[in-house]
Amino acid sequence: MPVDGPVPWERPDHTAAKHDIYRRYLERWFPILLGGSKAYKSATYAEGFAGPGVYVGGYPGSPIIAIEALLKQVPNPEPVVKMIFVDDDPRCTKMLREQLNSKFPTRPRSREKLPISIELGTCVDKLEPQLDAMDAWEQPILAVLDSWGNVPVTYRLLQRLARNQSSEVIITLGTQHFIRFVSKMGPGADEVFGGDPNWRRIDTMATGQAKRQHILTCYRQTLSKAGFKYLLDFELVDRRGESLYLVFGTNHRRGLEKMKDSAWEVDRVYGVGFRDPRDEQAETLFELTDPALAPLGRLLLARLKNEPKASVRVETLRDFALFDTVYRPEHVIRTLKGLRDNGLVESDRSGLYRSSFVRLAR
Ligand SMILES: C[S@@+](CC[C@H](N)C(=O)[O-])C[C@H]1O[C@@H](n2cnc3c(N)ncnc32)[C@H](O)[C@@H]1O
Repeated sequence: MPVDGPVPWERPDHTAAKHDIYRRYLERWFPILLGGSKAYKSATYAEGFAGPGVYVGGYPGSPIIAIEALLKQVPNPEPVVKMIFVDDDPRCTKMLREQLNSKFPTRPRSREKLPISIELGTCVDKLEPQLDAMDAWEQPILAVLDSWGNVPVTYRLLQRLARNQSSEVIITLGTQHFIRFVSKMGPGADEVFGGDPNWRRIDTMATGQAKRQHILTCYRQTLSKAGFKYLLDFELVDRRGESLYLVFGTNHRRGLEKMKDSAWEVDRVYGVGFRDPRDEQAETLFELTDPALAPLGRLLLARLKNEPKASVRVETLRDFALFDTVYRPEHVIRTLKGLRDNGLVESDRSGLYRSSFVRLAR
């Protein structure tokens, strides 16, 4: 769906933060896959909603960010990196071509080593055929699916990506889109959720927070059913309170850790914080060096409450933080110390270590 207004458009703060996360993640992803002794010979970076490659003010778009990350972190020109950029707005594909020519006036790598395809058409019609045409399968693929939030992407593509080796997806999800249009959306909208109409239950929910959480839960289930073992979703919130959800799917613990590191390092100049969508009080985690740990405290208390064996190893809670929250494992001991100081949690010894056991205070 082409944008109503002019191309390019302004870059909102949460988009700047999102780009910062993309860049940090790609600067890790490319060398992990293409450097070192176990390197793959080839990988593909594919965007289904590429945009024009530039924003008002000259800020780079995601395709440029990806190419720059590759050139910066993988100086060895040998591995083949295939790039696919799809967009259904001809103004965007044209401008993206111009941007690539002006940012990289001489080809940084040969056509064989860095084939780039810019395709005009919808993600549904073009992305999968182009992955086939470029022989991208059976090598790692990172698919960035950055739509306006409505995620017009087939479930089949998600399944194929989840089954493909070392492949990952980063998806922008606009919960508002589904909340606003639920009554007008036909069965086609269920395809976003793998054909499951359960997301429509938002109709019966009273608060915006409950609706947002439900859409996210349904989408997590969709990615999980498609075959992604590890998921990370978080909400980027800017100073005006406008938000954007990013959902990341991978089959590798290391991918999850690196994405989480990238999110926590996001440059604070954008004034964007992120929230754990599972935190019932929706508290924003603004400070990087001094993160708000109260939401993690609430999540840990809920986790301990559900623990049949009463005592839980701290290491288990570190994994819980990694797999089930936006927090990093490193945040857990600090948070538990705070909970213990407030008399909410007890531990088996005075120091708190990864091998310690904790339980809810009696
Ligand atoms: C959020 S913008 C992408 C921004 C870009 N990824 C970036 O970060 O620089 C969404 C883009 O998707 C395109 N678009 C919208 N619906 C589409 C569809 N069904 N298939 C392909 N492109 C679509 C729009 O033209 C727009 O350029």
